[in-house]
Parts: sequence; C-alpha cells; structure tokens
Amino acid sequence: ELPSVFHAAVDLGIIGGTGLYKLDCLEPIAVLPPIETPWGFTSSPITISKFIGNGNHFYVAFIARHGVNHEYPPTRVPFRANMAALKNLKCKAVLSFSAVGSLREEIKPRDFVLPQQIIDRTKGIRESSYFNDIGLVGHVGFGNPFSENFARYIYQFKDCLINETTNEPCDLHFTKDTTVICMEGPQFSTRAESKMYRLLGGDVINMSVIPEAKLARECELPYQMVCMSTDYDAWRDNEEPVTVETVIGNLSSNAQNANRLASMIIENMANELPEFMQNGDGLHEAMKMSISTK
Ligand code: ADE
Repeated sequence: ELPSVFHAAVDLGIIGGTGLYKLDCLEPIAVLPPIETPWGFTSSPITISKFIGNGNHFYVAFIARHGVNHEYPPTRVPFRANMAALKNLKCKAVLSFSAVGSLREEIKPRDFVLPQQIIDRTKGIRESSYFNDIGLVGHVGFGNPFSENFARYIYQFKDCLINETTNEPCDLHFTKDTTVICMEGPQFSTRAESKMYRLLGGDVINMSVIPEAKLARECELPYQMVCMSTDYDAWRDNEEPVTVETVIGNLSSNAQNANRLASMIIENMANELPEFMQNGDGLHEAMKMSISTK
C-alpha cells in the first residue's frame, strides 16, 4: 500500500504519451502531486476526474508518461512508479496512448492502431519487473500482452477519428496480430533497421510500450495501448526518414482524436462498466502461480 490522499477507488487509469500531457475531456476534481512509491516518484502529478453515468460515479486517473513538461525521455520514464500508483488507486484497467511511427503503407500518419503483439527491441537497461529487487523470481505469462477485450471495446468507437486538416475519417487498425516494435531510442531507426522491423512483422514502432505492458501484467491490470501514427518511420525509399518536425506536425490532430476516443470510452464505461473490468479480464490469478521456488 502506498500513502494516498485520495481514498475513492479509481475505475480507469489513462497514461498519455508524447503530445498528450493532459486530456481536455477530463475536468479534474483533484490533482495528486507526484506520488512517491518504492520505485520512485510518478512522472507527473495524477489528475482525478469524476464522471456520472446512469447514477454511477466513474473515476479516471491520468498520468503524463513523459512528465507535464516532457522531462523524461523513454529510457528514464519511471514506469514502475506510474503503474504502481495506478494499481494503488484501484484502477480496473489501464488505457495508454503513444505516438508511433508506421511500418506499413496502409497505416497512414494520423491513423490509430490497437496492437495485440509486441517485439521488444529495448536494450535491457529499463527496469521492467517488480520482482528483480525483492528476492523472488516471478515469471508471468505475456504471450498476449494486451487486453483483446479492451481493444474490442475501444474498436466500437472507430468512427470518431477525423483528420483535422482534411476532415476525412482516420482509420483505427485492429487485427489479432497487429504488432508494435518497441525500440530504445531516443534516436529514430536507420533505414536498414526500419526495413528489418517490417520483415519481422512490425506494423508500428515506438519507445514506450516496454516495460509499461509488462508492469501492467505484473499488476494484473487489463492494458491496451492506443498507438497514434505520426510518421512513416524510415523505410520508404523515396521519402525523407522521419524527423521530429514530422512527428510534431501530426501530434495536435492526434491529440484531438485521442480526446474524442477517450470521451466515448469514458462515457460508455460510466454508463455500464464493461465485463472485462468487472471480472478482471482473467488476470486476477495471473501472478498467483508465477513465483518460482525450489
Ligand atoms: N514515435 C513516433 N514516431 C516514431 C518512430 N518513427 N520511431 C520510434 N518511435 C516513434
């Protein structure tokens, strides 16, 4: 148990990535200062927002992954503190947003993606488990690193995504094999690496899903990342490889769509808590048999 000044149980935890330091659809009723956990401070204050639907109270906690002033690069984000704080607030699921590069022609900048698989290309320098420091060995299942039920829930709102410049719809991509590559960064990939990731089966690439997804699993929390495409990475031969300007150019359209999507999700969850949040999505026992002893 962490010390907490907020004693109501939160329903949904949201983690915002690059370009999403707050969500305009949230009207916080409380701001918890960065919470100190046994794994350090959370990367930002946590805002708590309250919604009322069908007479129920529905609480949302929001953390900015990179800090509200983007002070934490992916390698230094206190991922363990962030996830522990959401767990301690009693979140029943974690919805995470992340800017990504696209490795597929059909995933256009400003499209969103609900990946179901991960290829970890981080360099092992991030703390990615709660078990390493406590004299226990825990091997939790991670074959399906995301919550398919949560992804399906999000997918029903796919029609709310709009390209801010053209007013055309943006796509929400979701198949059972959609794969996000997680690289260490902070530099983007070379063309050769980008092409290799395509051959490996990667659809999008970012720098944050590991260890976030692993820690959510250790916390037995249903977790789904919404990947927001900002660029075509570096694999397209006739195009300049990704630059930070390209990424920033698409962030504001993506932030608006993240708000639209989050509003729909929250409104519907507040009216009726989805089954996967009521029953723990089959993860309540995930850690039970994970500890190895002799
Ligand atoms: N985040 C946004 N675009 C990216 C890219 N091309 N590679 C890695 N992370 C990203």
